[in-house]
Amino acid sequence: MRYALITDEQVEKIYGQSLCTHLYSLGLDIQLFSFPAGESSKTRATKEKLEDALLSEDFGRDTRIIALGGGVVTDLAGFLASTFCRGVELILIPTTLLAMVDAAIGGKTGVNTDLGKNMVGSFYAPQKLFVYPEFLKTLPEQEWFNGGVEMLKAGLIADAEFFYDFSKIPIALAIERAIEIKRRIIAQDPHEKGLRRVLNLGHTIGHALETLSDYQISHGQAVAAGIILEAEISYRMGILKKEALAQIKERFPPVTVSFDFQAIFDIIRRDKKSAESCPRFVLLQDIGVPHSFEGSYCTEVPYKILKEVLYDAALCSC
Ligand SMILES: NC(=O)c1ccc[n+]([C@@H]2O[C@H](COP(=O)([O-])OP(=O)(O)OC[C@H]3O[C@@H](n4cnc5c(N)ncnc54)[C@H](O)[C@@H]3O)[C@@H](O)[C@H]2O)c1
Ligand SMILES: [Zn+2]
Repeated sequence: MRYALITDEQVEKIYGQSLCTHLYSLGLDIQLFSFPAGESSKTRATKEKLEDALLSEDFGRDTRIIALGGGVVTDLAGFLASTFCRGVELILIPTTLLAMVDAAIGGKTGVNTDLGKNMVGSFYAPQKLFVYPEFLKTLPEQEWFNGGVEMLKAGLIADAEFFYDFSKIPIALAIERAIEIKRRIIAQDPHEKGLRRVLNLGHTIGHALETLSDYQISHGQAVAAGIILEAEISYRMGILKKEALAQIKERFPPVTVSFDFQAIFDIIRRDKKSAESCPRFVLLQDIGVPHSFEGSYCTEVPYKILKEVLYDAALCSC
């Protein structure tokens, strides 16, 4: 068995090199491969470079890929493992909070293309997943925020107690609970025919904001704004109570970005949940309870309500 440790250059410096040396000293036949950190590396070009590097070092069918890093590394190295020699073993070691509770859970891998995020990829479950919260001691504040938003989202869609207690629970336990929520949802709907869509709460508007800002606002900020606005839509459609909406607004930072409504709408219309170009949203019935809409877990929102909500949030410059 030969091991290829794949990581980004930042994680390589902090943990990659020492982990590689340590595993080598234990007798593993291991080599480290890295690429520049950041979302802009999550491409077919980076995957191809890594594949060529592995092949030129004679890695073959007996390869085990160890992906060490944030979601960019786990998505990219996971996709690579799923196609390298028609699929080799994959070990995930997430090092960001977001990767621990979200990217490394559920078996989705992929890369971005110029025409969209995660447009090319595969479903490929790792043989092993190691979650060590100790990696988080070096994590920058912004990255904590990105992971924290997804954890609060997990509470909102499935576990009210977790949502309310989130800040009081020790981090290792909170990570376990968030992972458990995502796993439970996926087990019930592995192919995203219904329930799994709830994981997209806040992401329909969130993705539009991220795209329009040219990724200047972080995923966490965009999704936090998206969650507030999609909760507001739920309220205006008579599905969510006012008190629950207030609780949600209290826990996420206020929205301060400003974009043209039509631009947001055009992006939302192209969202994968849209039916015949009519935008569809995951809506909340209560904290911890998504609205089922007869098992589809998403529904069309009238143009008028969407426009009102975005206008009132002063998101629009039009
Ligand atoms: N597959 C899925 O189901 C899924 C789900 C959610 C998100 N994602 C993907 O995850 C990606 C985002 O992941 P991310 O937020 O982890 O970003 P990331 O992988 O870019 O990591 C963020 C930054 O933190 C650095 N870093 C990583 N671990 C560190 C540590 N322990 N200490 C210090 N610095 C560290 C990285 O080098 C990077 O600069 C996106 O591409 C997104 O599409 C995938
Ligand atoms: Zn997300």
